[in-house]
Amino acid sequence: MEYKNNFSKGTTMKIYSILFISLISITTFITCTSNNNNESKNTTTTKAAEQKIVSASVSTKGYNLMKQKCFICHFPKPEPSKRNKMIAPPMMRVQQHYKPSFPAKKDFVNAILNWVKNPTEKETLMPGAVRKFKVMPHLGYKDDEIKLIAEALFETDFGNTSKMGMMTEHGTLKLNNNKKWKLHKNTISVISSLTDKLQNFKSNSIKDYNKLGKEVFDNAKTILLDKSYPETIFQQLHIFFSSIEENIHLLISAKDINEARKQHLILTHKFINFQNYFE
Ligand code: HEC
Repeated sequence: MEYKNNFSKGTTMKIYSILFISLISITTFITCTSNNNNESKNTTTTKAAEQKIVSASVSTKGYNLMKQKCFICHFPKPEPSKRNKMIAPPMMRVQQHYKPSFPAKKDFVNAILNWVKNPTEKETLMPGAVRKFKVMPHLGYKDDEIKLIAEALFETDFGNTSKMGMMTEHGTLKLNNNKKWKLHKNTISVISSLTDKLQNFKSNSIKDYNKLGKEVFDNAKTILLDKSYPETIFQQLHIFFSSIEENIHLLISAKDINEARKQHLILTHKFINFQNYFE
């Protein structure tokens, strides 16, 4: 009897277990299928978007390497909805920051190669990103892979998210309760000497204008890399820097003297305006 009872108990348990397991499997199956559906939907849209980028890209191999090695941290393009998941600037922004300084493909590729092999604050063209995300870690990638990636980065058409987006993302300068923001003496002296330099600059050579742009950039970026400023002041400095960045880029890469003069003039005004917000 006892044995029988136990046996029947055991059977019931077994049936229950089988039912339970089947139920789990069915649920898992359903969840998986719906996930798969979602995933395949997502991948199709991403694929379509990527296809558009790749087709415009000369080096598909380089682009695929970039996907494997760089998109781990960098999004290809800015994605406002995933902003808080960002751990590095989008590749499109990287391209926008490097092309003006290195308009020739060969120089661009070398600059990216040098950066990936040895990322340092000193070499950065994106001080805002360095401050926000910390300097990019050193990655042990092979030179020829990085070169292919850099070529693809140069060629890739990320579409036309506006360059001005870089500026408008950061807002406009504000006072500190109707008072100017107090900066360190050395920051003020960097800005004053740049303002003087801009105001007194005269030349008929486009090369001199390009050099001036680079000099303004290198000096202005040291301010953004100053980690001793609290977030509130840093934000305002970042807004100022973002507002001049586009003009600096245009000055560095200007081929036409009238364009260079225009950017020089705008920059001079923006530096003079700096004094209305900071002291
Ligand atoms: C582990 C994360 C990570 C990976 C992987 C990565 N990066 Fe970065 N990268 C960053 C971060 C963070 C920044 C922003 C801070 C900075 O500029 O140093 C950055 C910035 C950059 C910059 C701008 C440099 C500057 O400041 O002027 C370039 C160029 C760049 N990455 C290229 C690449 C390339 C090419 C690859 C792939 C071979 C790659 N990165 C892979 C994290 C990464």
